[in-house]
Amino acid sequence: MNREITDEMLNTLREQVREYLTEKRYAHTLSVESETGKLAALFLPAEQNCLRAAALLHDITKRLNLEKQLQLCQNFGIIVTNDETKAPKLLHAKTAAAVVSRDFPQFADNRVLSGIRWHTTGRAGMSLFESIVYLADYIEPTRTFADCVMLRQFFWENISLAADADSRMEVLRQTMVLSFDMTIRQLLAEGALVDRDTIEARNWFLSPAL
Ligand SMILES: [Fe+2]
Repeated sequence: MNREITDEMLNTLREQVREYLTEKRYAHTLSVESETGKLAALFLPAEQNCLRAAALLHDITKRLNLEKQLQLCQNFGIIVTNDETKAPKLLHAKTAAAVVSRDFPQFADNRVLSGIRWHTTGRAGMSLFESIVYLADYIEPTRTFADCVMLRQFFWENISLAADADSRMEVLRQTMVLSFDMTIRQLLAEGALVDRDTIEARNWFLSPAL
Protein backbone atom coordinates (compact mmCIF):
# COMPACT_ATOMS: atom_id res chain seq x y z
CA MET A 1 0.00 0.00 0.00
CA ASN A 2 1.22 3.54 -0.76
CA ARG A 3 0.71 5.94 2.13
CA GLU A 4 0.74 9.68 2.31
CA ILE A 5 3.62 10.93 4.47
CA THR A 6 3.34 14.51 5.72
CA ASP A 7 6.03 16.90 7.00
CA GLU A 8 4.47 16.62 10.43
CA MET A 9 4.77 12.82 10.40
CA LEU A 10 8.45 13.17 9.51
CA ASN A 11 9.02 15.62 12.38
CA THR A 12 7.59 13.10 14.84
CA LEU A 13 9.48 10.20 13.28
CA ARG A 14 12.78 12.10 13.50
CA GLU A 15 12.40 12.10 17.31
CA GLN A 16 11.03 8.55 17.56
CA VAL A 17 13.89 6.84 15.71
CA ARG A 18 16.48 8.35 18.04
CA GLU A 19 15.91 5.66 20.67
CA TYR A 20 16.58 2.89 18.14
CA LEU A 21 20.01 4.24 17.21
CA THR A 22 23.37 4.96 18.76
CA GLU A 23 24.33 8.62 18.82
CA LYS A 24 26.72 8.20 15.91
CA ARG A 25 24.19 6.31 13.83
CA TYR A 26 21.53 8.90 14.59
CA ALA A 27 23.79 11.60 13.12
CA HIS A 28 24.37 9.35 10.09
CA THR A 29 20.62 8.73 9.77
CA LEU A 30 19.80 12.46 9.77
CA SER A 31 22.49 12.97 7.18
CA VAL A 32 21.06 10.20 4.96
CA GLU A 33 17.68 11.89 5.31
CA SER A 34 18.94 15.23 4.09
CA GLU A 35 20.88 13.52 1.28
CA THR A 36 17.70 11.77 0.10
CA GLY A 37 16.10 15.22 0.06
CA LYS A 38 18.79 16.49 -2.34
CA LEU A 39 18.57 13.39 -4.53
CA ALA A 40 14.77 13.54 -4.54
CA ALA A 41 14.94 17.11 -5.85
CA LEU A 42 17.00 15.82 -8.79
CA PHE A 43 15.22 12.58 -9.57
CA LEU A 44 11.95 12.04 -7.73
CA PRO A 45 10.52 15.26 -6.28
CA ALA A 46 7.01 13.87 -5.76
CA GLU A 47 8.35 11.15 -3.46
CA GLN A 48 10.59 13.28 -1.30
CA ASN A 49 8.78 12.65 1.99
CA CYS A 50 8.56 8.96 1.34
CA LEU A 51 12.30 8.86 0.65
CA ARG A 52 12.98 10.83 3.82
CA ALA A 53 10.94 8.31 5.83
CA ALA A 54 12.90 5.40 4.36
CA ALA A 55 16.14 7.20 5.26
CA LEU A 56 15.06 7.81 8.85
CA LEU A 57 14.09 4.17 9.27
CA HIS A 58 16.74 2.33 7.25
CA ASP A 59 19.10 1.45 10.11
CA ILE A 60 16.73 1.02 13.06
CA THR A 61 17.89 -2.55 13.75
CA LYS A 62 21.56 -2.02 12.95
CA ARG A 63 22.72 -1.97 16.56
CA LEU A 64 21.28 -5.43 17.33
CA ASN A 65 23.72 -8.32 17.50
CA LEU A 66 23.47 -11.51 15.44
CA GLU A 67 21.51 -13.35 18.10
CA LYS A 68 18.87 -10.62 18.28
CA GLN A 69 18.73 -10.29 14.49
CA LEU A 70 18.11 -14.03 14.20
CA GLN A 71 15.46 -13.85 16.92
CA LEU A 72 13.64 -11.11 15.00
CA CYS A 73 13.87 -13.16 11.82
CA GLN A 74 12.31 -16.08 13.63
CA ASN A 75 9.53 -13.89 15.09
CA PHE A 76 8.70 -12.35 11.72
CA GLY A 77 9.08 -15.56 9.70
CA ILE A 78 12.00 -14.11 7.72
CA ILE A 79 14.00 -16.78 5.92
CA VAL A 80 17.71 -16.49 6.71
CA THR A 81 20.09 -17.67 4.02
CA ASN A 82 23.37 -19.38 4.70
CA ASP A 83 25.23 -16.33 3.38
CA GLU A 84 23.43 -14.07 5.84
CA THR A 85 24.54 -16.05 8.86
CA LYS A 86 28.12 -15.58 7.62
CA ALA A 87 27.60 -11.87 6.92
CA PRO A 88 25.16 -10.76 9.63
CA LYS A 89 25.40 -7.12 8.52
CA LEU A 90 23.08 -8.13 5.71
CA LEU A 91 20.30 -9.03 8.13
CA HIS A 92 19.58 -5.53 9.41
CA ALA A 93 18.01 -4.48 6.12
CA LYS A 94 15.49 -7.32 6.34
CA THR A 95 14.76 -6.93 10.05
CA ALA A 96 14.42 -3.13 9.81
CA ALA A 97 11.71 -3.46 7.19
CA ALA A 98 9.85 -5.93 9.44
CA VAL A 99 10.22 -3.72 12.53
CA VAL A 100 8.83 -0.73 10.59
CA SER A 101 5.69 -2.71 9.85
CA ARG A 102 5.37 -3.57 13.56
CA ASP A 103 6.42 -0.30 15.27
CA PHE A 104 5.64 2.33 12.62
CA PRO A 105 2.67 0.99 10.64
CA GLN A 106 1.85 4.51 9.42
CA PHE A 107 5.11 4.34 7.44
CA ALA A 108 4.65 0.80 6.14
CA ASP A 109 4.46 2.06 2.58
CA ASN A 110 5.64 -0.35 -0.12
CA ARG A 111 8.24 2.11 -1.38
CA VAL A 112 9.57 2.78 2.13
CA LEU A 113 9.78 -0.93 2.93
CA SER A 114 11.55 -1.91 -0.28
CA GLY A 115 13.90 1.09 0.00
CA ILE A 116 14.92 -0.20 3.42
CA ARG A 117 15.03 -3.83 2.35
CA TRP A 118 17.50 -3.23 -0.49
CA HIS A 119 19.62 -0.41 0.92
CA THR A 120 22.60 -2.61 1.81
CA THR A 121 23.03 -5.04 -1.08
CA GLY A 122 21.09 -3.43 -3.89
CA ARG A 123 19.47 -5.81 -6.37
CA ALA A 124 19.00 -6.38 -10.08
CA GLY A 125 16.16 -4.23 -11.36
CA MET A 126 16.17 -1.94 -8.35
CA SER A 127 13.81 1.01 -8.59
CA LEU A 128 14.84 4.64 -8.73
CA PHE A 129 13.47 5.01 -5.19
CA GLU A 130 15.59 2.10 -3.94
CA SER A 131 18.63 3.48 -5.75
CA ILE A 132 18.25 6.87 -4.06
CA VAL A 133 18.09 5.37 -0.55
CA TYR A 134 21.10 3.15 -1.33
CA LEU A 135 23.15 6.01 -2.77
CA ALA A 136 22.25 8.51 -0.03
CA ASP A 137 23.45 5.97 2.53
CA TYR A 138 26.76 5.64 0.66
CA ILE A 139 27.58 9.30 -0.05
CA GLU A 140 26.04 11.27 2.84
CA PRO A 141 28.54 13.91 4.03
CA THR A 142 29.45 12.39 7.44
CA ARG A 143 31.03 9.36 5.72
CA THR A 144 34.81 9.69 5.61
CA PHE A 145 35.82 6.29 4.17
CA ALA A 146 37.91 6.87 1.02
CA ASP A 147 35.46 5.05 -1.28
CA CYS A 148 32.57 7.16 0.02
CA VAL A 149 34.48 10.39 -0.48
CA MET A 150 35.41 9.35 -4.01
CA LEU A 151 31.87 8.30 -4.91
CA ARG A 152 30.39 11.50 -3.45
CA GLN A 153 32.79 13.55 -5.52
CA PHE A 154 32.15 11.53 -8.67
CA PHE A 155 28.39 11.91 -8.35
CA TRP A 156 28.19 15.62 -7.50
CA GLU A 157 30.83 16.69 -10.02
CA ASN A 158 29.18 14.82 -12.84
CA ILE A 159 25.63 15.73 -11.89
CA SER A 160 26.59 19.42 -11.99
CA LEU A 161 27.57 18.92 -15.65
CA ALA A 162 24.41 17.00 -16.58
CA ALA A 163 22.15 19.27 -18.59
CA ASP A 164 18.93 17.24 -18.76
CA ALA A 165 17.02 14.39 -17.15
CA ASP A 166 18.57 11.72 -19.40
CA SER A 167 22.08 12.85 -18.57
CA ARG A 168 21.26 12.89 -14.86
CA MET A 169 20.00 9.30 -15.10
CA GLU A 170 23.20 8.32 -16.89
CA VAL A 171 25.27 9.87 -14.10
CA LEU A 172 23.20 7.93 -11.58
CA ARG A 173 23.73 4.69 -13.50
CA GLN A 174 27.48 5.19 -13.66
CA THR A 175 27.60 6.11 -9.98
CA MET A 176 25.73 2.95 -9.05
CA VAL A 177 28.12 0.76 -11.08
CA LEU A 178 31.08 2.46 -9.42
CA SER A 179 29.60 1.99 -5.96
CA PHE A 180 29.11 -1.75 -6.49
CA ASP A 181 32.59 -2.06 -8.01
CA MET A 182 34.08 -0.43 -4.92
CA THR A 183 31.99 -2.50 -2.52
CA ILE A 184 32.87 -5.75 -4.26
CA ARG A 185 36.55 -4.81 -4.42
CA GLN A 186 36.52 -4.00 -0.70
CA LEU A 187 34.82 -7.29 0.17
CA LEU A 188 37.36 -9.22 -1.92
CA ALA A 189 40.22 -7.41 -0.15
CA GLU A 190 38.75 -8.43 3.20
CA GLY A 191 38.27 -12.01 2.06
CA ALA A 192 34.58 -11.51 2.84
CA LEU A 193 31.57 -13.00 1.20
CA VAL A 194 30.05 -11.03 -1.70
CA ASP A 195 26.28 -11.20 -1.66
CA ARG A 196 24.70 -12.46 -4.86
CA ASP A 197 22.29 -9.50 -4.97
CA THR A 198 25.23 -7.08 -5.03
CA ILE A 199 26.81 -8.84 -8.01
CA GLU A 200 23.48 -8.95 -9.82
CA ALA A 201 22.86 -5.26 -9.06
CA ARG A 202 26.26 -4.35 -10.45
CA ASN A 203 25.70 -6.30 -13.64
CA TRP A 204 22.22 -4.87 -14.04
CA PHE A 205 23.41 -1.27 -13.82
CA LEU A 206 26.12 -2.02 -16.39
CA SER A 207 23.36 -2.37 -18.98
CA PRO A 208 22.43 1.12 -20.19
CA ALA A 209 18.65 0.73 -19.80
CA LEU A 210 18.01 2.01 -16.28
FE1 LIG B 1 22.95 3.57 6.82
